[in-house]
Amino acid sequence: MHIGTPLTPSATRVMLLGAGELGKEVIIALQRLGVEVIAVDRYDGAPGHQVAHRSQTIDMTDGNVLARMIDSEKPQIVVPEIEAIATETLAKLEASGLVRVIPSARAVHLTMDREGIRRLAAEELKLPTSPYAFADTLKALRTAVEGEGGIGFPCVVKPVMSSSGKGQSKIDCAEDLAGAWHYAATGGRVDRGRVIVEGFIDFDYEITLLTVRAPNEQGEVETHYCEPIGHIQMKGDYVESWQPQPMSALALARAREIAARVTANLGGQGLFGVELFVKNDTVWFSEVSPRPHDTGMVTMISQHQSEFELHARAILGLPVDTRLRNPGASAVIYAGVEGRGLCYEGVAEALRVPGSDLRLFGKPTSFPRRRMGVALAYGQDTDEARTRAKEAASKVKPVKP
Ligand SMILES: Nc1ncnc2c1ncn2[C@@H]1O[C@H](COP(=O)(O)OP(=O)(O)OP(=O)(O)O)[C@@H](O)[C@H]1O
Ligand SMILES: [Mg+2]
Repeated sequence: MHIGTPLTPSATRVMLLGAGELGKEVIIALQRLGVEVIAVDRYDGAPGHQVAHRSQTIDMTDGNVLARMIDSEKPQIVVPEIEAIATETLAKLEASGLVRVIPSARAVHLTMDREGIRRLAAEELKLPTSPYAFADTLKALRTAVEGEGGIGFPCVVKPVMSSSGKGQSKIDCAEDLAGAWHYAATGGRVDRGRVIVEGFIDFDYEITLLTVRAPNEQGEVETHYCEPIGHIQMKGDYVESWQPQPMSALALARAREIAARVTANLGGQGLFGVELFVKNDTVWFSEVSPRPHDTGMVTMISQHQSEFELHARAILGLPVDTRLRNPGASAVIYAGVEGRGLCYEGVAEALRVPGSDLRLFGKPTSFPRRRMGVALAYGQDTDEARTRAKEAASKVKPVKP
C-alpha cells in the first residue's frame, strides 16, 4: 500500500478509538510513518489526544454518535484501543466497505465480552482453558460453583464485561459467594449482572504472547511471535512485566499453537496479546486482546520494534520484525494520590538508574491506583532488568501541584 501526506487529500487517515497510554504509543508509531491520526477518547486531554493531528471526545458506546464522528472524519482505518465501544456500529461500517476495522469488527466484538471469546476458545476451537460457567443470578452462581459437577473452590468470579480486574474476585469458600456476586454485578462495564466463574488455575507463571498477523510480500497474512512476556498482576492489574520469560520448549510450542489458532480465527491484520497460564508443560488459554497489551510496554526497551510499532506496521501491511533486542522489564508508576495536573518528582533520579527509561502518560487527573507512567529498563538478564525497572519506578513521586 502507499502512504499519503497528512492533512492533504492524499492522507492515509487512521482513527484510534481510545487514546490512553497504549493508544498514544500506537499514534506516535503511525505518525512516524507519515499517517494522519485522529484520536478519540471519552475525556479531553487523554494521553493520545496530546500527540494526534486531531482529537475528539465522545461516548464511544453510543453507536449513533460514533457513526456520525466516523462519517465526518472519514478515516480509512479504525483502530479500537479499548473494549467499551458500540461494536455493532463498527460491524455495519466494515460491512459497507467504508472503513477497515483492526483487526476485524468480529474480533473486536467477540473479545469485548468474556463469554464471546471463552466460548470460541473452549467450545469451538477446543483450546485448554480453566473450567468455567456463566451465571445471571446469585442462585445460579451458587449452583455453578457448589452444584454437582460444579467448579468448586477456589474459583474466580468476573463480570463478563470488564477489564483491569474490575469487579473480579477470587473466592475460597461458600461464604464469599454473595460478596463476589455483588462486587461483580456493580464492578462491570455495563451493569448486566452476568458473571463468568472460572476454576482457579494454580499456575507456575503467566505470560502474554504477543502475536502479529501481517501480510508477506505475496500479500498472504503470516503469523509472527514475540518472545514470551512474564508478568505479575495485583488485583487484576499488571504491576511488573519482563521479556523473555523462560519456558520449556514444549510449553512454548503449545503457547504458540494456542496463539496461532485463536488469532487465525479472529483474523484480520494487527498485533494481539494472548494471555496464557503455564504450569510445567501445561498451557491454558485465558484471554486475548486484539490490540497491544499493557504488559507489552516492556517491548519499548526489549525489542527492535515495540508492540506499538508492530501494530502500526501490521495495520498498514508493512513488514514486521518481532526479534528481541535485549532482556528488558517494565514497572508501573501509580499516582498514589487523587488530583489534577500532578507533578512528577524524582525523574532525574529515576533516569540515573543504569539502562532505564520512562514513559509519563500525561493523564490530566489521577486517583491513587491510576497508572500514570511506566519505568523501563534493559539488563544482562531479566533479573537485572527487573531490579532496575523497579528501582527507577520507585524514584518517581507524583505529587499534587
Ligand atoms: N482462572 C484463573 N485462575 C488463576 N488466576 C486467574 C484466573 N483468572 C484470572 N486470574 C488472574 O487475574 C488476572 C486478571 O484476569 P483477567 O485477565 O481475566 O482479567 P482482566 O480484567 O481482563 O484483566 P486485564 O484487562 O488487565 O487483562 C490474570 O492475569 C491472572 O493473574
Ligand atoms: Mg487479562
